[in-house]
Amino acid sequence: MLFPLGGPVPESELVGRKDFIMSLETRLSEGQSIMLAGPRRIGKTSVANEVSRRLKKKGFYVASVDFFRTSNNRSIAEAIINSCLENRTGVRKTLNAVWDRARLLAGAAKIAVKVEDLELNLGFPKREMDDETLLEYALNLPDVLASKDNKRMLMVFDEFQDAGHVAGQDIYKKMRSYFQLQTNVSYLFLGSKEGMMQSLFGGKKHAFYRFATVLPIPRISEESWTVYIGRKFEEKGVKISSDYALKEIGRLSGGHPQDTMLISNEAYYTLLEAGEKKLTMEIVRIAYERAMVILTPVFDEILDEVGKKSIVREVLHRLAVGDAIYMEKKHPNDIKRAIDQLIVSAVIKKESRGKYRFVEPMLQEYVLRSY
Ligand SMILES: Nc1ncnc2c1ncn2[C@@H]1O[C@H](COP(=O)(O)OP(=O)(O)OP(=O)(O)O)[C@@H](O)[C@H]1O
Ligand SMILES: [Mg+2]
Repeated sequence: MLFPLGGPVPESELVGRKDFIMSLETRLSEGQSIMLAGPRRIGKTSVANEVSRRLKKKGFYVASVDFFRTSNNRSIAEAIINSCLENRTGVRKTLNAVWDRARLLAGAAKIAVKVEDLELNLGFPKREMDDETLLEYALNLPDVLASKDNKRMLMVFDEFQDAGHVAGQDIYKKMRSYFQLQTNVSYLFLGSKEGMMQSLFGGKKHAFYRFATVLPIPRISEESWTVYIGRKFEEKGVKISSDYALKEIGRLSGGHPQDTMLISNEAYYTLLEAGEKKLTMEIVRIAYERAMVILTPVFDEILDEVGKKSIVREVLHRLAVGDAIYMEKKHPNDIKRAIDQLIVSAVIKKESRGKYRFVEPMLQEYVLRSY
């Protein structure tokens, strides 16, 4: 694929995040912990990966856990421990390698030696440990490991709002009680459920209140996109008919990162199929329609999910058209509830008082077309 789609992107494809990454790098190096919440596919993991790479280069230990991939207390504990110890052993699953020592996995003995000295502080975790004890061990480990090796450490927790789902809400209180005593670790918390993340970090009664600096994820400038897309096409020998063609991609995607990539990709395939070497406005429009077709099942699923109540569908349509959302025959509370639901599901975002916008402008167009 000419334009990366789907997972986190490498540095060379990361568009318009230079200043943001620099700021994260600085704050985290200084020991600040940070929380970033943003809708799906806005580039959270890509940014975190790049920041990790940079801090590692500076000599930091770095570890990361994606809570979307964990299923209970124990798997959370194991993921944290493995990710921390990898800094020392260079092995992805140190725990399992050591625990399976009896089976004489290649190199297991060597790995065991590398972590032997941890026993002075914590004892290498035993396989028989109960889940609770293993979790406590894990929550201590980042700081213990870092201080033992005279390092600073960055710990990334991705899809952090899922920790409560898989392990129960109490896990947050427990985590905080450990983390707040640690002096060698900076935490970077990411989450795609903005509402849940905001309340976890912003609510006075919630476990992570004031633990981390909450930063907004900036929009990527139109300029950054046109420069990047123009460069990619040129590398393939494609001429750009005018800057307007490039700008049109950004206008149609509304700057949504993954949709911008998708339209660009479709433009490239359209050119290949047509045997053309020039990106024109017309090609961009065709690419947009093709992208829309590709997104149809995704959008249908979103709409099925949120639009179970007819009032939600109605509000959504009114927002898409740009009509006033409060209607004579509907109770304002019902409308308020519909709006809240659309915000929680990250379909729309509040701009200012009484003003909302679609997180994904292509979904707005889809709603307009399908009602
Ligand atoms: N700054 C960016 N530069 C280039 N592409 C980006 C950028 N941000 C997001 N993307 C696009 O979005 C896709 C998803 O990126 P990434 O996985 O980092 O996002 P995410 O917010 O972690 O998503 P998810 O909610 O699925 O975890 C990428 O494959 C790419 O197409
Ligand atoms: Mg992600």
